[in-house]
Amino acid sequence: MTSAHQYSNEWDKLNQQLPKWLEQSREQYVNGKVASYIPELSKAPINALGIHMIDSYGNHITAGETKLTFTMQSISKVFTLLLALMDNGKDVVFDKVGMEPTGDSFNSMLKLELVQPGIPFNPLINAGAIAISSLIAGGSPEEKSERVLQFFRKLSFNDTLTYDKAVYHSEAESADLNRSMAYFLKDNGVLKGNVDDVLDVYFRHCSILTTSSDLARMALVLAYDGTDPITGISLVPRQYVQIAKTFMVTCGMYNASGEFAIEVGLPAKSGVAGGILTMVPGKYGIGIVGPALNAKGNSIAGVHLLTTMSREMDWSIF
Ligand code: DON
Repeated sequence: MTSAHQYSNEWDKLNQQLPKWLEQSREQYVNGKVASYIPELSKAPINALGIHMIDSYGNHITAGETKLTFTMQSISKVFTLLLALMDNGKDVVFDKVGMEPTGDSFNSMLKLELVQPGIPFNPLINAGAIAISSLIAGGSPEEKSERVLQFFRKLSFNDTLTYDKAVYHSEAESADLNRSMAYFLKDNGVLKGNVDDVLDVYFRHCSILTTSSDLARMALVLAYDGTDPITGISLVPRQYVQIAKTFMVTCGMYNASGEFAIEVGLPAKSGVAGGILTMVPGKYGIGIVGPALNAKGNSIAGVHLLTTMSREMDWSIF
């Protein structure tokens, strides 16, 4: 490789320091827990930590358990939001979900009744993402899910992306809270049609099986405002990527988004399987997996690693 970028100080420093930073952050797993409310997720290795970074030339840096597969869970919500925006436009989408952080946990339905209108506060909490699932174009849940999968494959440049069926069934069988939320949304006029059909689309996109490499590749497209810098292919309109990235800053780490904005300062989205998708805008796509979660549902070692990296590399966008 001969690109000037590859030999820049920043890339060299990352190459040299990342394995050490990763091992220091890995220790945090002792303070975390693997998600178990979806029983299948509890099988993940609690002390795993992996990171994959890609730059605009297609150079990679990896450290730790980057071969580990895991389900996207809430990370998928960023991309279903993008697809819903592309299918319906901004006005239709924001008629059904708001633009504000909640300060509550990701599966809370507290504010649905507390504040009028009774629409979910934002598309990244469970209630909001369920409402977004209902906005995906398609004649049946199968067709909608297929469109979602194809969209994710396009953005990850990975045609083999598919579902983890065991996690899908495990979530569908243990989703009483999400199911009650969906019925509540239907009663509020946010959801139309069959609640089980909407939830099926939601459970499926949460169970898309991925790696830190896929997350980094998808993040790179967002880091370059929807146009893949490696191929030059335009995948998502810039105005929608801006919306998604703004939500990632304000709501992407749920009720830890404020602290994450101060300590790390990058748009990011976490999932309960331990994934974090983040980016250095205009520079890198980053995918992380670390299944041990903190009390807010974010990868405890992953957040620690990003905090170190952002401080050392001076990455905060603020
Ligand atoms: O609906 C759920 O609870 C999961 N499928 C997704 C939640 C999630 O990933 C929250 N993220 N930290």
